[in-house]
Amino acid sequence: MNLTIVGTGYVGLVTGACFAEFGYSVTCIDKDNERLEKLKSGKCPFFEPGMDELLDKHINKTKLLSFASSVKSNLDNADIIFITVGTPTRRLEDEADLSFVWQVAEEISENIKKYCLVVTKSTVPVGTTREVKKIISNKVDQKFFDVVSNPEFLREGSAIDDFIRPDRVVIGTDNQKSENIMRELYRPLFLKETPILATSIETSEIIKYASNSFLATKIAFINEVADLCEVVGADVQQVARGMGIDKRIGSKFLNAGPGFGGSCFPKDVKAFASTAKKKNIDLSIINAVNKSNQDRINKISNKIISKIKNNSTVTFLGLSFKPNTDDVRDSTSMKIASTIFEKGIKVQCYDPEAMDNAKKENSNLILFNSAYEACEGSSAIIIGTEWNEFRALNFEKISKLLKEKIIFDLRNIYIPENLKEMGYEYYGTGK
Ligand code: UDX
Repeated sequence: MNLTIVGTGYVGLVTGACFAEFGYSVTCIDKDNERLEKLKSGKCPFFEPGMDELLDKHINKTKLLSFASSVKSNLDNADIIFITVGTPTRRLEDEADLSFVWQVAEEISENIKKYCLVVTKSTVPVGTTREVKKIISNKVDQKFFDVVSNPEFLREGSAIDDFIRPDRVVIGTDNQKSENIMRELYRPLFLKETPILATSIETSEIIKYASNSFLATKIAFINEVADLCEVVGADVQQVARGMGIDKRIGSKFLNAGPGFGGSCFPKDVKAFASTAKKKNIDLSIINAVNKSNQDRINKISNKIISKIKNNSTVTFLGLSFKPNTDDVRDSTSMKIASTIFEKGIKVQCYDPEAMDNAKKENSNLILFNSAYEACEGSSAIIIGTEWNEFRALNFEKISKLLKEKIIFDLRNIYIPENLKEMGYEYYGTGK
């Protein structure tokens, strides 16, 4: 099967490289020539464990993966075209901006040469895939194409494994022919007994938003429970464990912290509620989750400021929205670091991978080459992102570098008693 993937962002590139790993011939398309040149030389434009190796393997050795700059010359042989362009939140509104999706649909409609499937893989509000069908139908006879919704559930930092060993594959179609083609495409996973769920197009689109919103709800819920734990002297980690053992609840996504961030959850939660509102449905729980998560930035920033002296210098460890990625989009660490900076605090930062992106987003943050350098002369350490290299810091060494021994362990990666014994004032989340 020949696959064409339009958009070499996170989802598009991981999808392309992993389908090449399954043995399909894949062409990835992007209008950004600088990005394409980098990709052609085998360099992944973002940090994702395993991606450089996978790109090198399929660009240079198997030659199953290639890149091109236009849809026009690349649809002649395509059996399946994936739309994986970005769907950012519209400025000043909460809904997803679908202009890139419509643009690709137009281009596809002008260039289809033979029957193919057009698959929406970007996270798109319910109704979008049908709209793509309408746009293409304006120029192409229905017998030459079908549309499918096939949302992607991969997580940054473990994207390759998530793609190759997913919990499930969801295929939303409106006819048996396209369902059969999609089942054939995912046959390598079916052999590994991955559940393949075939639904209507609308159901598939909702499954994606409902899944992300539900996970975000779990996080916002445990974060509010953490606030209560702090006041009454309970320990949220033990509460989460006590809850999670109940199989109906499950232990995943119950880690309390500074709130959820990244390129998906904040955007998807808003877009889900906004789509529902247009249909006169009030997703009040989802709206509350969004507000709770947004309020958390000020709540935590104020807590930090209240415990340190005016005009202090603090150390901020971890700037990416979670470990194993260089992505700082909607990162709670970046937001908290920026908020305390605006209140007159000098912020000395270190992140293993995200410093280039962090600098682009906020040039006021002072960046250092290691956690230890960032601790020099500082009055408090804030652990914003739980990178492995922050889990066993040498506090003997750090104690000599700090002016005052205060630690805000926002992700609860340390045992408070251990640090208290070393003379630290310790503040975790929810304990
Ligand atoms: C998410 C979904 O998990 C994935 O299925 C979807 O395809 C894209 O969005 P991702 O954004 O990569 O993936 O990150 P994820 O691991 O889900 O974490 C999202 C945010 O929630 C991070 O900021 C993380 O720190 C936070 N989080 C996660 C918590 O605060 N507590 C938790 O228990 C879990």
